[in-house]
Amino acid sequence: MTSNSFLQDIEKYLPLVGDVHIKTPLAYQATRGAVSVVNTLQMAAAEAYINGLEVPDFLLEGLFDSFMPVFFRYFPSLLAPYDWVLKETDHLAEGSKDLMKLQYDLPQGMLNKMLGDGQLIYPKYSMALWEKGASNLEQAQMQMLDDVIEKLDIKDGDRILDFGCGWGCVPNYILSKFPNVTFTGINLSHEQCEYMRGKMQDPASYLSSGRFTLYEGDLNDANFDQKFDKILSIGVFCHVGNLTKAFEKLASFLNDNGKVFIHIITVRTPNHISSVYTHQYIFPHGRFWNYDAVPSHNKDLKTIKRWYLNGYNYSTTFATWLKNFDNHQAIVKDLEYGMDYAKFRRIWRFYLIWFVRNFASCNGEYNGNGQFLLVHA
Ligand SMILES: C[S@@+](CC[C@H](N)C(=O)[O-])C[C@H]1O[C@@H](n2cnc3c(N)ncnc32)[C@H](O)[C@@H]1O
Repeated sequence: MTSNSFLQDIEKYLPLVGDVHIKTPLAYQATRGAVSVVNTLQMAAAEAYINGLEVPDFLLEGLFDSFMPVFFRYFPSLLAPYDWVLKETDHLAEGSKDLMKLQYDLPQGMLNKMLGDGQLIYPKYSMALWEKGASNLEQAQMQMLDDVIEKLDIKDGDRILDFGCGWGCVPNYILSKFPNVTFTGINLSHEQCEYMRGKMQDPASYLSSGRFTLYEGDLNDANFDQKFDKILSIGVFCHVGNLTKAFEKLASFLNDNGKVFIHIITVRTPNHISSVYTHQYIFPHGRFWNYDAVPSHNKDLKTIKRWYLNGYNYSTTFATWLKNFDNHQAIVKDLEYGMDYAKFRRIWRFYLIWFVRNFASCNGEYNGNGQFLLVHA
């Protein structure tokens, strides 16, 4: 017996530590019991903060910096707050309407200021690439998109589907580079679709070129009367709870020799993770898939290549969003959030600060982004 398999053998009897999937029934139940305690403590701390407890940023950062590496390295099972995080959900995406209300249809004046709203780079709510030396967010987002174009091998004339197209940033940028590409985007957020409909009337936007088609609708119901050469989905699969159903759908939209590119937040821990806080206040039913989840699903689509992008890139992106949010308080504070603004600001800053620290923890090696290139299985 090797020392590794000996350790695994011991680990299955021990609650809390290591891989939750290999536990004996008793150790599994004990682990789930400990998760309830972690959930309660996490919510108690978060609620105290968002209800007005004065904590300077550096203390909050210190708290995340102290706890997250320990969870990632030794107790990842405690980062799965609900049983559904560990398995596939019934629907491709659960709770889509709640998600839109709580997150994507928030006042766009706030989101656009936070994410940045440029002439070419529209608000983009996903990781920017800083590791190539970008000096600002817009440049880092362009470098990320150039990287996607290369990895997905986009060619002029491709018909592309953007599955969860945000504000149309990805289509707009790619249409600007390729005069014969056509794009179809689907998004459930009414506010983001309104933004794109505005751009589709704006001669300065590539979305007005007649080469962009927009569907306002749920990924669960997506259906198209054409097939695509390339499909990309950036920052969306944290809202997809059933990879089997998603792959079946995507494969049905894909040409025989087509390629799919999925870019998601991922964790290099044995199990997927989430948190009670983000489920309640930020991303209902959101989860970070473990890095092996996509390649281990090989029905309908199979992964032929994958890349891990260090969390440093997302930590820096979130730090820039936090700075943008803080710097635009004069505008942001007067928008309508359905609650007292002081409370909203705290909910939001708790999330942003947490994510800045999360992605930086363990030198970005545990919580980063994964990119996956897939073809028909
Ligand atoms: C994190 S944003 C990423 C947007 C864009 N891909 C980008 O990189 O900027 C996730 C997007 O997925 C959309 N989305 C999430 N769940 C959805 C669902 N069930 N149906 C349709 N769109 C959804 C959101 O409205 C949002 O536009």
